[in-house]
Order: sequence, then C-alpha cells, then structure tokens
Amino acid sequence: MRILITAGPTREYLDDVRYLSNASSGRMGYALAEAAIAQGHEVVLVSGPVELSPPSDCEFIAVETTDEMRDASVAHFPDCDGVIAAAAVCDYKPKERIEGKLAKTGGPISIDMIETDDVLAQLGANKGSRWVVGFALESQNARENALQKLRAKNCNWIVLNNPTAIGSLDNQVELIDDTGHPIMKWAGSKQKIATDLIAWLVANLPDQAQ
Ligand code: CTP
Repeated sequence: MRILITAGPTREYLDDVRYLSNASSGRMGYALAEAAIAQGHEVVLVSGPVELSPPSDCEFIAVETTDEMRDASVAHFPDCDGVIAAAAVCDYKPKERIEGKLAKTGGPISIDMIETDDVLAQLGANKGSRWVVGFALESQNARENALQKLRAKNCNWIVLNNPTAIGSLDNQVELIDDTGHPIMKWAGSKQKIATDLIAWLVANLPDQAQ
C-alpha cells in the first residue's frame, strides 16, 4: 500500500518574522510513517516544521503553512491508497500577511483572523475508492465531536485523542467508526500505538474502505 501521512503543526504568518502555530511535536505522524514502512508500505510524509528526522525510506515533503500542506497533500493523494491525517493544522490564519516586520504601535493591536482550508476535508471530499483516517483532538463531548468530524470530513475512521497528546511521548486513543462507537482502544508510546494502528488498518481495510 502507498499511504499519505500528514504530520506536525502548520504555521500561519502575521508578518515575515512572526507566526501562529501550536506545540505539536509531529511524533504521532512520524511514528505512523515509521510503522507503515516497517510493515512494508510506501509512505508519502507531508510534514510541518518539527525537530524529527523523517524515515529514510519515505517520500518526504516539508511544508510550513496550511496552504502548503493542502497543496502537497492534494497533489499526492491520487497516487496513494489512503491517508492518515495526524497533523495539528492551524485553524486560523491572519487575514493578511504583512510584508517585512510589523513595528510596535505603543498600544494594543488586533489581528483579523480567517479560517484556514481544511486539508482533510478536501481529501475526504475527493477520496473516491481511497480510505481516509482522521485524528480528532477533543477535550469535551469527545466521541460526539469525533463522530461529527468523521462525517464532515468523509473519513472511514477517526482516531480520538485528547490535548495531553500534544508534545507528549505517549498517547491514549480510541478508534471511532461511522457509528460513533470506539472499536479499538490503544494506549502507550506513540510508536506502539502507530504499529498497532497500521496493523489494524491493513487487517480491516478490505471490508471497510469504500
Ligand atoms: N485538519 C486538517 N485541516 C485543518 C484542520 C484540521 O486537515 N484545517 C485535520 C487534522 O489533521 C485532523 C482532523 O482534521 O486529522 C481534525 O482536526 P482537529 O484539530 O481535531 O479538528 P478541527 O477540524 O480543526 O476542529 P476544532 O479545532 O474546531 O475542534
């Protein structure tokens, strides 16, 4: 199988030196890439800026902004059998990127923000016969929200985790299907979860992917 994986944070620039981002380490996405390769699959890894080295055997595309992540993902998805979207994508970006460096004004400033494009939703909307696995980071009404995301983004499954996963070595996840039920639960290192998740997907794809 050839698997597209998104990983890490994205950055949204306010001016040429300042950006909005999040604390994603990229570990979950990189662990998935390593696990998939170790299990004999090809991986296209589209990653925001992280301090990890990509696995040597994968096709690696480094991106910074959400628009770049969208463009790279949309370009490579047609050549893949499915996607796992582990990236912690910025939901908002400054309406305008100021050229150069914004100088201090001596008072408060406000910044107009607009929503970024949803990379996963775009892939889901055009998935055809490919399978789509999303991640959902939830702090409340977790399963309900995860199911809504699964439906809105046309995912086959969604991996539910909570904000403690961000930047951590370990994770605790539930795999939610399109009925909203947790069909699998995994806890432990991100490497262990990645290995189990890839193995589960491979074993369950023929019946599930449409
Ligand atoms: N995602 C994406 N593009 C975005 C936002 C999210 O591809 N602009 C993907 C993430 O990679 C993840 C899934 O969508 O696989 C859910 O991300 P999450 O941050 O949990 O949810 P959001 O859709 O951003 O909604 P909210 O932040 O309001 O919970």
